[in-house]
Amino acid sequence: MNRADLDWGNLAFGYRKTDYNIRYTWKDGNWNEGTLTKDENINMPMAATCLHYGQEAFEGLKVFEQKNGDIVAFRIEENARRMVRSCNKIFMAAPPEEMFIDAVRKTVEANRKFVPPYGTGASLYVRPLVIGTGPQIGVKPADEYVFIVFVMPVGPYFKEGFKPINLIVESEYDRAAPNGIGDVKVGGNYAAGLRASIRAKKAGFTEVLYLDAKEKRYIDESGPANFFGIDQNGHYVTPHSESILPSITNMSIVALAEEMGMKPERRPVDVEEIFSFKDAGCCGTAAVITPVGSITYGDRKAVYVEGDTPGEYCTALYKKLTGIQLGEEPDTRGWIRKI
Ligand code: PLP
Ligand code: COI
Repeated sequence: MNRADLDWGNLAFGYRKTDYNIRYTWKDGNWNEGTLTKDENINMPMAATCLHYGQEAFEGLKVFEQKNGDIVAFRIEENARRMVRSCNKIFMAAPPEEMFIDAVRKTVEANRKFVPPYGTGASLYVRPLVIGTGPQIGVKPADEYVFIVFVMPVGPYFKEGFKPINLIVESEYDRAAPNGIGDVKVGGNYAAGLRASIRAKKAGFTEVLYLDAKEKRYIDESGPANFFGIDQNGHYVTPHSESILPSITNMSIVALAEEMGMKPERRPVDVEEIFSFKDAGCCGTAAVITPVGSITYGDRKAVYVEGDTPGEYCTALYKKLTGIQLGEEPDTRGWIRKI
């Protein structure tokens, strides 16, 4: 197999054109067969609902080359299911789970040369999306939808890699409302987060940590990832909230933490608890497990680690999770699917 000529060990997390993407159209109640194309542009009516009324949902998952050379996806069924939930919530046609998985498989096969080699720290990031392409000018759902899957090889989401990042608690701007759409993966949530994120970066922080919009008391999540802390008993504590994205990575870490004796607790997490945690991290497909070095809250700062060395809990969980993804550890739960 001829592999693309890329500096695999130094890839950033960013868009890169690969050879093919796949597209399906939904019309009159049915999805068509789908076609692979080399075109990276989309042609649609200017009144398409995705452009006006935010009918857009996406997913993010990773494909790895494992130690034994297998090309695998991590928990792809969960992404397929979440895509259905996201589409349903904003009244879009949803790709059936099997079609989602098949679309990813075909796109990965067509772009096989972009799957990063085992051992480079890089992976193939898969970005499925559904958009309302039918024209409407009154606020209502489109009568046509397009489902696209494209892929690109990526390195770590935070340029620091597996090194501690610095968060700031956002107590002014909200990302998502209780009973809103913060629990699904739709574009509007990310537009809502840009103000806070850009302000935090300008002030020298890596990302923000959102509080619940109602009471401004409980931790929700970070912009692109869920949050966890390790309490004084060594328990894995992660927020339960109706307005955060149910992270597949976090769900996986909860299972691993249980097995590793870190007794997971998913519950409302009072922001004051950041001052008693002994380690903390962000987790997600793109973020994997990113150790948190410090959290600034008003004029106070919780510090977990100094310098570049991640905390021991983040390190242990990171090794376990990436070990399963890369086939260095047994996959006892059926999280890995050959592509
Ligand atoms: N939270 C938000 C807002 C996200 O965008 C993501 C990324 O998908 C996550 C959490 C992590 O979710 P997952 O682990 O399923 O990628
Ligand atoms: C992911 O982790 O896959 C995401 O979608 C996060 C993102 C906003 C890059």
